[in-house]
Amino acid sequence: MSYLGANVETASISAGEIRDFRVSHTDRPAVPILDIRSFDDLMDADVPVRVRARHIEQIMDFVPQHMFMLEPSGALSFVNRAAREYLGKSDTVSPSEKLRAIIHPDDFDALLGSYRDAMAHEICVEAEARVRSKNGQYRWFLHQLFPLSDEHGRVVRWCGTRIDIDEQKTLKEQAQQENLVLRKVIDTKSTFEEIVGTSPRLQAVLARVAKVARTESTVLITGETGTGKELIARAIHKRSDRANRPFVSVNCAAIPRDLIASELFGHEKGAFTGAVQRRIGRFELAEGGTLFLDEIGELPAETQVALLRVLQEKEFQRVGSNQTMRANVRVVCATHRDLPAAIEEGTFRRDLYYRINVFPVEVPALRDRREDIRSLVEYFVDSFARKNGKHITRIEKKSLDRLQTYSWPGNIRELQNIIERSVIMCESESFSVDESWLSTQPHPSRPLGEEMVSQEKELIETALEECKGRVSGPSGAAVKLGMPPSTLDSKIRALKIDKRRFYTN
Ligand SMILES: Nc1ncnc2c1ncn2[C@@H]1O[C@H](COP(=O)(O)OP(=O)(O)OP(=O)(O)O)[C@@H](O)[C@H]1O
Ligand SMILES: [Mg+2]
Repeated sequence: MSYLGANVETASISAGEIRDFRVSHTDRPAVPILDIRSFDDLMDADVPVRVRARHIEQIMDFVPQHMFMLEPSGALSFVNRAAREYLGKSDTVSPSEKLRAIIHPDDFDALLGSYRDAMAHEICVEAEARVRSKNGQYRWFLHQLFPLSDEHGRVVRWCGTRIDIDEQKTLKEQAQQENLVLRKVIDTKSTFEEIVGTSPRLQAVLARVAKVARTESTVLITGETGTGKELIARAIHKRSDRANRPFVSVNCAAIPRDLIASELFGHEKGAFTGAVQRRIGRFELAEGGTLFLDEIGELPAETQVALLRVLQEKEFQRVGSNQTMRANVRVVCATHRDLPAAIEEGTFRRDLYYRINVFPVEVPALRDRREDIRSLVEYFVDSFARKNGKHITRIEKKSLDRLQTYSWPGNIRELQNIIERSVIMCESESFSVDESWLSTQPHPSRPLGEEMVSQEKELIETALEECKGRVSGPSGAAVKLGMPPSTLDSKIRALKIDKRRFYTN
């Protein structure tokens, strides 16, 4: 069937997907298509329908913007001349034509979403998306889709228009590009001026930090490597009543296991071989201030007991001493490990976990708050350029795009390192990044720990697939992996695996 008498072959426009989302409301008011009075002649009942339709088609062919018609079935029934000329004949009339084939892949989902909204709610929608011309080049268009109703208010078809906005868009992008570094990233009025980022996820974390900072609560900060856990710990200290006292940081993973107790609590002369003199520990150094225990998950079992005691009774003893000392220290801990899983494995004490997990703060991965990438890039480019005496005024758009889509396994630290390297290499006023630094190795700064986590996730997913999502029982994945079902369950939760997707009927 052809619409408006137009002799255009009917073609489907990603019809399946659109049609699924279409609902019909019969009580909507009619949308006036044409002003009847101004089109008396055209609408004269004596004029045959085919002629009237032909006139409307000619009008649509005359307008410089793209226009098309969709039938309720989703079938494309009319495409005006401007669109035909832009897309090329084969693209518009072949039945295989799909929206997907002409819209830029990065814009497709958003545009389809808008079309679905229009059809589900019978409303007019607008969206920006790039459209491929017959020469294979993309230009930006403003897309509109609106419903056309019959005299009873029933939607009988859809009219779509596309306006070329490529020039405005390019000018806007150029302006943005030029202003990139000039923009002031650090908001000095912000409570957390040293923490860059305005994403809702980061702001939610900072709101929690602001709440807990002035209390005496122990805080457990979790998050992937390089997400800014130490920065958050320092922010808590800085905003606490202990801000004028020391902030002492201990990386539990970096100290040999047999020395960690003495590092934390100090030792008496002769307490062990090599203890040639008395030494005060970090708890004493942090007196009145904050002790930051980084990588708390790496703490050996016996030190966990001693730490639990300090947290509960505010007391400790130096290694090799019977004398009990009082500790006035606020403890903030951090880990990138899944402590509940470590409890199940028997490597972390449950009672200590409850004691330190009074106020958990989870720092989101950079890939989960991509909105912050641009500000962070600007901030780091600016600070490294200053440090290196370079004059950088712009950021290359292509580089920024690449930085915004990269997965950042090493999070902000990785971003910081790449920007520092790039600033050193930069020989013009325009900042750019060598793409190979992001992609030569799958994960250039991915630490072993993360690599193992990802392998573990893969193993668990394979086992779940083989066991159709079943965890326990003789045919469950736990047996296959040789671990207790409870351990597997907590790993599944920690690794955010959706086991339901392996269920089969
Ligand atoms: N929001 C942010 N704004 C500015 N700099 C940040 C931000 N988050 C992190 N950084 C910087 O990124 C680097 C890594 O942060 P930090 O050391 O706090 O991460 P981490 O989570 O403790 O990492 P790891 O788990 O490897 O110890 C630091 O130089 C820090 O200053
Ligand atoms: Mg750290």
